[in-house]
Amino acid sequence: MVFDFDTPTNRLETDSIRWDRFDSKEVLPLWVADMDFKSPPCVIEALSNRVQQGIYGYTHSPDHLNMMIANYLEEQYQWRVDPDWIVILPSVVSGLYTAVQQLSKNDESVLIPNPVYHHLRLACSSANRLFQEMPLELKDGRWVLPSNELPNLITNKTKLALFCNPQNPGSTVFTKDELKDFGDFCIQNNLWICSDEIHAGLVLDDDKKHIPLASISKEVSEKTITLMSLNKTFNFPGVGLAWAVAENPTLRKAIQIGLHQTIAPPSLLAYTATMAAIKEGEPWRQELIKYLSGNRDLIYQKINSVKGLSISKMEGSYLAWIDCTTLNHPNPYQLLLDNGLATSPGDQFNRKQFIRLNFGTQRNRLHQALNIIEHCAKL
Ligand SMILES: Cc1ncc(COP(=O)(O)O)c(C=O)c1O
Repeated sequence: MVFDFDTPTNRLETDSIRWDRFDSKEVLPLWVADMDFKSPPCVIEALSNRVQQGIYGYTHSPDHLNMMIANYLEEQYQWRVDPDWIVILPSVVSGLYTAVQQLSKNDESVLIPNPVYHHLRLACSSANRLFQEMPLELKDGRWVLPSNELPNLITNKTKLALFCNPQNPGSTVFTKDELKDFGDFCIQNNLWICSDEIHAGLVLDDDKKHIPLASISKEVSEKTITLMSLNKTFNFPGVGLAWAVAENPTLRKAIQIGLHQTIAPPSLLAYTATMAAIKEGEPWRQELIKYLSGNRDLIYQKINSVKGLSISKMEGSYLAWIDCTTLNHPNPYQLLLDNGLATSPGDQFNRKQFIRLNFGTQRNRLHQALNIIEHCAKL
């Protein structure tokens, strides 16, 4: 490997949310979704050069950024978008909250997957929107939407569907057929769609690929705001930015509400990091994927060999969704924490008998985590 993913990095004294929550001598913190790897050398170099300029005034989005993003989407996902469809945002989360506010009214409701990244749910509750969950089901070892059930989950008040692909947690990389089914369902029921695709760059198998939901058809594209970012893939969420893609001008206008007023623009370093990753980050990303799939394979074997635990084969990103139901412990998250491993508790996703383990870390640390999990399962 040209890039070093194995040497442990020290994240203490970097004000890391993940590493500062617990006493690092006592607890290995594998929860919040950032990785323990340094960003690619091309990003570090570009940021250093930008910092050296010493000029940090008000900065607009670089003129060619939208074009760079459009080219990147075509290269990576064979998805052709007009650069004018792209709206630069400070983060995916701000896009989620704006989409819910703008695309549904007070007495209308929103469809969201369950389990899912908690901000999809919080975006609804903070806007006082009712939401209906689509409980993902395990089918042939993959967490998928309950397609036959979907018509029973909506009413004439349902106006918006939030989607997450690759799925967090659960790790599904949705297939073209699955996306088509869901897209068609939304069109038939006149639902707007907001698709969170932040984990798109982290598909773990060569025979799978990320397909943007909006790329399925012109009709779906006209109904969809796609939220993307390189923050996860290149591990710079502290200095990153996001973007929305919306072909439909009404949707584009909606996602811009509040920008530069209540929603701050990205920092100038965010532009630098994102452009460096687009231009030169691909070799690093390729090696990262190999390293993460090695971690994934290790988890899959180990967890499924431990009595009381199970996991499906993960397809995307670095978040392992571990089913502890047959462990018969009232609080698996607490059990692990008491034994020195911090994970994300399942109840953050409304599934208390699960835990989510962040495996975007060095292999040695992962071994340590798996040993703790195995030990706890035997208690
Ligand atoms: C599905 C999903 N969306 C959004 C985010 C956060 O994105 P951002 O940092 O750009 O707000 C995360 C972070 O874990 C995530 O998993």
